[in-house]
Amino acid sequence: MSLPKRVVLVGPMGAGKSTIGRMLARELGYRFLDSDRIIEERCGANIPWIFDVEGEKGFRQRETAMLDELSTEPETVLATGGGAVMRTENHALLKKHSVVVYLRTSIEQQVERTRKDRNRPLLQNDDPEGVLRRLFAVRDPLYTELADIIMHTDRKSPRLVVRQLVNRINPKTPRQQRQVRKEGRNHV
Ligand code: S3P
Repeated sequence: MSLPKRVVLVGPMGAGKSTIGRMLARELGYRFLDSDRIIEERCGANIPWIFDVEGEKGFRQRETAMLDELSTEPETVLATGGGAVMRTENHALLKKHSVVVYLRTSIEQQVERTRKDRNRPLLQNDDPEGVLRRLFAVRDPLYTELADIIMHTDRKSPRLVVRQLVNRINPKTPRQQRQVRKEGRNHV
């Protein structure tokens, strides 16, 4: 089996896409790209500012343009924003030459991991947990539909998640290869 051109990580806020993506890229010898960070660099402003000034719609336009640009970058691991699956036109961009990995994470973990964060405009309100629940209800089917691999991250260290992902993406031993054939795209 050969390595895919790109690995694209999708999943909700707090799933660990950036942490896991960076570690996974190192393991695979790929470049790590984080679409939100690149949008911020290009814009010279952070995401709360973009939401404030341009609204969510403006941010989503920038996000689609960024996904389009990054979709041709070979040998990369791309961490996407949690809402990247919301525009149908993004789906083909996410799938292009890629293995798409859904980092599936419980609401409890999402709440825990985003609790102190001030950089996520959608969660700066009285009921961030309610928002995460509502977003999950809409987005979980979309992440699932797009994913080649569904990786459960609850109660796993980033190191374990990365090890399991490397075994799935680039199985080296006959045992790992049999396991991948058996599991197909299914839950790990
Ligand atoms: C968003 C998730 C964020 C960021 C923006 C919107 C969302 O990325 O793109 O705040 O709609 O879920 P992370 O998933 O990396 O936090």
